[in-house]
Amino acid sequence: MHISTLPPSLCLAPLRGVTGLVFRRTFTHHFGGFDCAVSPFLTTVAGTRIKATHLAEIAPARNRDLPLVPQILGKSAPQLRTLLLAIRDLGYTRTDLNAGCPWPVIVRKGRGAGLLRDADALRSMLDTGCEIMPGGFSIKVRLGIDSPDLLQARLELLNAYPLHEVTIHARTAHQRYEGEVNLPAFAQALAACRHPVRYNGDIRTAADFACLQAAFPSAAGWMVGRGAVCDPFLPARIRGDSRPPSAERLRAFLDDYLDQSAAELCGPSPLLGRLKELWSYLHLRFTDGATLWRQIRTCRRTDDYRRVLDAWWSGAPTLADIPNGVAHLLPHR
Ligand SMILES: Cc1cc2nc3c(=O)[nH]c(=O)nc-3n(C[C@H](O)[C@H](O)[C@H](O)COP(=O)(O)O)c2cc1C
Repeated sequence: MHISTLPPSLCLAPLRGVTGLVFRRTFTHHFGGFDCAVSPFLTTVAGTRIKATHLAEIAPARNRDLPLVPQILGKSAPQLRTLLLAIRDLGYTRTDLNAGCPWPVIVRKGRGAGLLRDADALRSMLDTGCEIMPGGFSIKVRLGIDSPDLLQARLELLNAYPLHEVTIHARTAHQRYEGEVNLPAFAQALAACRHPVRYNGDIRTAADFACLQAAFPSAAGWMVGRGAVCDPFLPARIRGDSRPPSAERLRAFLDDYLDQSAAELCGPSPLLGRLKELWSYLHLRFTDGATLWRQIRTCRRTDDYRRVLDAWWSGAPTLADIPNGVAHLLPHR
């Protein structure tokens, strides 16, 4: 078994509505710790031309801080081709296919995790992806839709393609993002997959990461989503940064995130929507963050939000510990 002695490859997970361009930029500036990110999915569209606005979030000039892998959601190979060609024209040599989105309306249409059910559709997507992004096409999957056996059954198909890597979120679509990750099923998939495998699911603390790395030394990389939004110090800590986390650094990040988001978005509603999405995770990082979250949720205007935050910071808030996400499922080191 190959055990890497290199620093761990840590990828920021795509979280639609949270880990967009402004988040990736400000996060990298204030905290760092990731060596790449996968973009929230871009959907394939009918027609043969892609509007520049569809690709604005992945514009290379605005994504220099953190290497980005654009991700696509769709099930039509011709539409995938059109979008991939547009992404390739921007200069990208990597793209990821979303075969993991669990939302029933998407799965029912054969997209996201629904792609795993339809071997023919999956095959034509992989044919197209590997042709247009040779050596750079990857896929993000789940263990299955209702049961965790489906990925295992599809690995023969995935193994037949020259994929760059396979990211496995260790849940079924039925579980969405709740309940425990299924580590035995992940272990089985890891053993059967001939591509580099990236683990994803519930890495919340450095202890989670250490336990997973010890349990799965052949995993090629790690993807962290909610754990980093909730605790932005996590990726750097996983890499050995021992500086104590501080509320002041979070404040500086949040001020920057607000300013840059306000400059990008039109009107208070999308701005507050974006901030609330972030706080739905981040409030857990603070002692009594639930009280703050209740206040933020009811803000209707940006000024209300600023007032709530000013009062919060003036109370010298303290940081709370984050409970482990997966370490309890693994043998103690
Ligand atoms: C709000 C939200 C949006 C998401 N958007 C995407 C997406 O665009 N593409 C994707 O592959 N996964 C998406 N995911 C799944 C995450 O990338 C990740 O697999 C999931 O959050 C589990 O990892 P975590 O426990 O580290 O957060 C999303 C998850 C959430 C909660």
